[in-house]
Amino acid sequence: MRILTVIGNRPQFVKAAAVSRLLRERHDELIVHTGQHYDDEMSRVFFEELGVPAADRELHAGGGTNTEQTARILGLLEGEIAAAEPDMVLVYGDTNTTLAAALAAAQAGVAVGHVEAGMRSFDRAMPEELNRVLTDHASDVLLCSTEAAVANLAAERVAGEVHRVGDVMADVSLAFAPIAERRSDVLERIGLEPGGYVAATAHRAGNVDDPERLERLVALLEAVPATVVLPLHPRTAARLDATGLRARLGSAPNVVLAPPLGYLDFTKLAANARAVLTDSGGVQKEAFLLGVPCVTLRDTTEWVETVDAGWNTLVDLDAGAAVAALERPRPDAERPDLYGAGRAAERVCDVLDAYTPSR
Ligand code: UD1
Ligand code: UDP
Repeated sequence: MRILTVIGNRPQFVKAAAVSRLLRERHDELIVHTGQHYDDEMSRVFFEELGVPAADRELHAGGGTNTEQTARILGLLEGEIAAAEPDMVLVYGDTNTTLAAALAAAQAGVAVGHVEAGMRSFDRAMPEELNRVLTDHASDVLLCSTEAAVANLAAERVAGEVHRVGDVMADVSLAFAPIAERRSDVLERIGLEPGGYVAATAHRAGNVDDPERLERLVALLEAVPATVVLPLHPRTAARLDATGLRARLGSAPNVVLAPPLGYLDFTKLAANARAVLTDSGGVQKEAFLLGVPCVTLRDTTEWVETVDAGWNTLVDLDAGAAVAALERPRPDAERPDLYGAGRAAERVCDVLDAYTPSR
């Protein structure tokens, strides 16, 4: 098949790293980078470190509100799809890039493949929840990471064919964790001892866009009785600047602010942390795979099996609950194989090999 892969932001570069190289052994692939993320540290570094094939087209369509951004990408993709004449458009996850590409493809009568289909938080206030529900209902081939995702799609009676393939982000984590351990000098650069700090990330719009919630986040980080290393996502950096909270956070004696880290540095930082504190979807999974307890700054998660397995605790922005969860002993529970043991991309390719576009 001729496959047009559309990606545009940090977690999608990681996911495409697992799939694109394998896909190209069996199919023709073109990559369109929408430019949703555009800083080198949010984009270029992932192509370089993880070997994602260079984008064939770049749309430079980042910035603006969710609606503006989705509409801009949608408009630009119409021409890209017409020019490339693909048999399938392949999308990942739940971002504005994902929804715009799925809709543009469906409108053009081109089959849509959705990797990481079926994830649900059941919180429609999240832009990601709208994006994933709408994308799944526009998709022809739904490639699920987990059993829970398959069940969600069955309950919604989606029209496309559903396959459980495992999680492609897990493929990358399992393959690159040993490389990160050898190559990254992030602990020396920041002056950290293994096990002596908490690795944190926060960027969810629901946590950082509302100044009151952002202030609660800052207070929570200050309350952690350990060094907290926080590589700042650009959305969070902008909100901290706009509210004047960056100076407060920067002067907290236990908080170390850093720029966004490359994949190898971040993986080494997370793998050697006492715990991970995050509102990221991908980072919750990676903490589990790295065997590091995770405390999640949300009251819902799509990755429910990490909670059920005892490795993830949801605390929203409740500082007391976060401190208590961080002080809990490391679970001695075995970590089950939840995400496909590093072979998800292979299964994605097997499903696509067998697919015959009907439109
Ligand atoms: C997006 C996704 C979110 C995902 C996250 C991954 C949507 C609705 N949200 O959120 O699901 O978890 O990416 O990190 O699609 N910015 C820069 N430089 C960049 C990128 C962004 O400065 O390279 C700034 C811009 O001011 C931009 C803002 O960050 O307006 C937000 O970026 P955007 O891509 O719209 O949303 P994210 O918060 O990154
Ligand atoms: N990540 C990174 N550097 C950082 C923070 C995160 O490389 O400073 C990686 C992380 O390892 C994971 C991905 O970015 O693979 C997660 O992306 P993000 O948290 O931005 O998005 P989400 O998964 O929440 O959609």
